[in-house]
Amino acid sequence: MTAGKGKTFYIHTFGCQMNQADSAIITAVLQQEGYTVAESEESAGIILLNTCAVRENAVDRIENYLQRIQGMKKRDKRLVIGLAGCIPQYQREETLTLSPAIDFLAGPDSYRTLPALIEQARGGAKPTSLEFNVAETYEGIDPVRLGLISAIVPVMRGCNNRCAYCVVPFTRGRERSHPFRSVISEVQQVVAAGYREITLIGQNVNSYHDPEAGMNFAALLDAVSREAPQTRVRFTTSHPKDISAELVRIIADRPNICNHIHLPVQSGSTVVLGRMNRGHTIEEYREKIALIRSIIPGVTLSTDIIAGFCGEREEDHQASLELLSSVRFDSAYMFFYSTRPGTLAARTLVDDVVEEEKKRRLQEIIDLQNSISADLFQQAIGSVVEVLAETESRRSTGQLMGRTVGNRAVVFDRESHQPGDLVRVLITAATSATLTGRPEHR
Ligand code: 5AD
Ligand code: SF4
Repeated sequence: MTAGKGKTFYIHTFGCQMNQADSAIITAVLQQEGYTVAESEESAGIILLNTCAVRENAVDRIENYLQRIQGMKKRDKRLVIGLAGCIPQYQREETLTLSPAIDFLAGPDSYRTLPALIEQARGGAKPTSLEFNVAETYEGIDPVRLGLISAIVPVMRGCNNRCAYCVVPFTRGRERSHPFRSVISEVQQVVAAGYREITLIGQNVNSYHDPEAGMNFAALLDAVSREAPQTRVRFTTSHPKDISAELVRIIADRPNICNHIHLPVQSGSTVVLGRMNRGHTIEEYREKIALIRSIIPGVTLSTDIIAGFCGEREEDHQASLELLSSVRFDSAYMFFYSTRPGTLAARTLVDDVVEEEKKRRLQEIIDLQNSISADLFQQAIGSVVEVLAETESRRSTGQLMGRTVGNRAVVFDRESHQPGDLVRVLITAATSATLTGRPEHR
């Protein structure tokens, strides 16, 4: 190992956008202490895995990854490997048993202590920092983001809902909103740095409540969109109970707020929603969708849905399919249920849908949703959409990839455009996941 290698780190981020945002905080904390980002994990003196615990297969992925880097540690004894984020917070000290290669554990509220943890780990200890700190919003730390086009801005952390299937209350603790003024100042920095899109994030973003002056999410979104009038503004994830007419009107009125709402439904059956402790019926969910569609013309909607939750009968599954058919979401994240120890469901309900049946139901959901997405995307052929170019397309440097205001992925001929450009694209072809086209020449 060279003298400098010990001061370099590489972060591998798993899971949601909150973890991506946290990796930007971790980077800032370590850089303040003189650490620098390594080009690759092979050249790093410290490897940090920022982990996700939300579903069983998320944990499996990290175990596979650990297996792989265990060999690197055998070759380089001075390599330090830290597990950060939701798995250590959820499984606590037991996480150390996942692999002998793990040197320290850091929960989501403990990132200010990372330099100390690294030092202690180098001294031979296996330190852990897993305390919740409901005051921690990482105020005062300027995140070091990847990319230059789209910026994630967290507005709250944690979650006070008690959805029966969900680990988030255990991994991220009680809900706390960032002060309004600090969100606005982060937005100002992001705009000054030239970002073209801002995504406000929180586990339950629309229950935002400014701890200082009490502003709600509608007021925050309005203020952010005015502070960054040339920048696209998105937000995620919303809970149906916190969708208000006021919020929907602001999305409709402010030209730079994207007309797309991700609104997880989880199940199409009121009985299952009750058992999930979601706090609303399916009729109430449909009313929110109707409200959104009546106020925001051309809005696109996406959702999350779980197949095979505890006690789900065939008729509940049919209700989920019926919901997808009637709402016609643009896209959906679709999962089969996996028990997470410690959650309300694990403690009080029976995981009684057998795995094969869960997978069958999930497949029906996926097939139906894919055909709906394909249909909706086909209808876009011949239209012109505005795309914010984000990257080169994976297939060819002659094409760029970007998103519409409705969050649809578009691949188009590059011509003279660069990532960061807003391009009017004529759509010529579509699959269920991507639109294809070329810049419009008028
Ligand atoms: N099993 C399956 N899916 C889950 N999700 C959360 N917890 C579980 C679980 N135990 C899904 C929900 C949530 C998304 C982030 O992950 O749909 O909205
Ligand atoms: Fe996964 Fe939830 Fe943690 Fe995000 S907050 S990384 S979804 S467990």
